[in-house]
Amino acid sequence: MNKVRVAVIGYGHLGKWHCQKVEAHPDVAEFVAIVEKFPAGQEAARAAHPKARVVGDIKEIINDIDAAFVVSPTSTHFELVKYLLENNKHVFCEKPLCSNDNEAEALKKVATDKKVVLQVGHSERFHEAWDKLRTKFQNLPTPYTVRINRVAPFKGRATDVDVVQDLAIHDLDLLLHLFKQKPLEVSAHGFKIRTPKWDHASLHIKMENDCEAFIVVGRNSVKEMRDLEVISKEGMVTVDLFTNKIYEATSSTYDDGTFVKEEIYGKRDHLLLEHKNFYASILGNLPAIIGLRDGLNAVHLVDSVLKAMDTRKSVTVKLG
Ligand SMILES: NC(=O)c1ccc[n+]([C@@H]2O[C@H](COP(=O)([O-])OP(=O)(O)OC[C@H]3O[C@@H](n4cnc5c(N)ncnc54)[C@H](O)[C@@H]3O)[C@@H](O)[C@H]2O)c1
Repeated sequence: MNKVRVAVIGYGHLGKWHCQKVEAHPDVAEFVAIVEKFPAGQEAARAAHPKARVVGDIKEIINDIDAAFVVSPTSTHFELVKYLLENNKHVFCEKPLCSNDNEAEALKKVATDKKVVLQVGHSERFHEAWDKLRTKFQNLPTPYTVRINRVAPFKGRATDVDVVQDLAIHDLDLLLHLFKQKPLEVSAHGFKIRTPKWDHASLHIKMENDCEAFIVVGRNSVKEMRDLEVISKEGMVTVDLFTNKIYEATSSTYDDGTFVKEEIYGKRDHLLLEHKNFYASILGNLPAIIGLRDGLNAVHLVDSVLKAMDTRKSVTVKLG
């Protein structure tokens, strides 16, 4: 195979961007179809991508594709990913891979021994800031504290899931990926403000070696904030993911006599990088850059947080 025959499933807010990224890779991807359940979305898809077939159900084109991007609502991911894997198709699934622990366990069984690429869309991993800070974070003296905020005014999207599955999952995945110490126990509480599901959540996660993380996520906030801060005896590092700036305050004075160093890092097209990696894994027979294990662990951690919120008791974290 020298070109991957691709379908995008779900032509909503993010699906439209995925379609553009497929078209941005004409050398390695052939855009076969868009699968969109509802007529209005189908019409919009046909108008924007006249060369792709537009259908209402994945079953109509399953024999014509090698791979699919699952960009439909989270509640549909499990059935779609399972169906694609059972048909030996490569899968890129937007985060979260599925909705809960039971679905995660079932997917693990289906995926075992399948010789296909399964990549999960934890797009927040692609910030250039992490390339600059990953080694520092991995080698932090313990104990350290991580504090993450991810809040925004209500946008009316992703209301099929709560704010933990929609937003906190980014930060739970970053916690697992960027830091060496693993989560041990989680306590959390939240508020249902605008929807029948959690719209705001405050998480406290105890990690190995007395490290801890505090994560606040909200989708009914008065302003947009996305930042990650780490403090240890070496000082403080703050990454503002919104303005693409890194601030550091260690125990030393900087060359210009100030106590805070500020650095701007480059903005990247995360979706484009996700596509590039996905096609490279399929065509090069390489493991996915963010694969099944990472997708499942993020879902397990989300499940622990939701149990803690529902019971208002701390929950022991079990990862795969
Ligand atoms: N990685 C990120 O940063 C990021 C950002 C936004 C959304 N997402 C994820 O992407 C997914 C989609 O989010 P969105 O904001 O685009 O949602 P959306 O509601 O705007 O779009 C989903 C589309 O899928 C269609 N659909 C529903 N069921 C379908 C089915 N069975 N088959 C085909 N189409 C179907 C809907 O009609 C809709 O057009 C969610 O899982 C969300 O968590 C990830």
